[in-house]
Amino acid sequence: MPLIAPSLLAADFANLQRDIEKINISDADLFHVDIMDGVFVPNISFGLPVCKAIQKYAAKPLDVHLMIVQPERYIAAFQDAGAEWLSVHIEACPHLHSIIYQIKKLGIKAGVAINPHTPISSLEDIIRDVDFVNVMSVNPGFGGQKFIQHTFEKLEKLRKLIKDTESTAIVEIDGGVSFENYQKIIDTEVEIIVAGNMIFSHADPVQAIQWLKKG
Ligand code: DX5
Ligand code: ZN
Repeated sequence: MPLIAPSLLAADFANLQRDIEKINISDADLFHVDIMDGVFVPNISFGLPVCKAIQKYAAKPLDVHLMIVQPERYIAAFQDAGAEWLSVHIEACPHLHSIIYQIKKLGIKAGVAINPHTPISSLEDIIRDVDFVNVMSVNPGFGGQKFIQHTFEKLEKLRKLIKDTESTAIVEIDGGVSFENYQKIIDTEVEIIVAGNMIFSHADPVQAIQWLKKG
């Protein structure tokens, strides 16, 4: 079964500790933490101090998704703020190879995230170096958007690329996972599913996670 990573972007920020504790007692595997800078993406979410506050209460590893320009400036700081999985966007990194090794050197998992319009072929020369690929199934910047159907084709291409290159990378899907499409997503055998609104707008987030976990 896939690892489930609830996205705290959809949590109640005024009751963050309460929502973190709900995830702590659930079957979820990771906390997905979305960092937005208002430059790489149009929205601003939260930054290092909030990530540190999350770390304080989270009983599961933090999967930090950096939607920021020049992420190399903040990698060590986010590791210090609890990131055990860290992804940067290919579109934001002219020196991606070097950044991936900067992350790996810290002993945490290094991921590359790709936007909906970025072709899977652009991962050809980095796929052997990353621990995971975050395939964006919505345009990054906001929670609660509609899943882009074309992502299913991209997932097939990515699976083939991983196989052909004998890469050990695993696949994360991020954005628009819902009660309508989660079964189809699970059937693609992605290894990590991020879900924000599906979990936090549900009356019982723990139960929503159980659904995702059982498939
Ligand atoms: C979008 C973020 C996602 C988002 C997912 O920019 O990267 O992680 O929080 O939220 P839902 O599941 O609501 O689409
Ligand atoms: Zn994300």
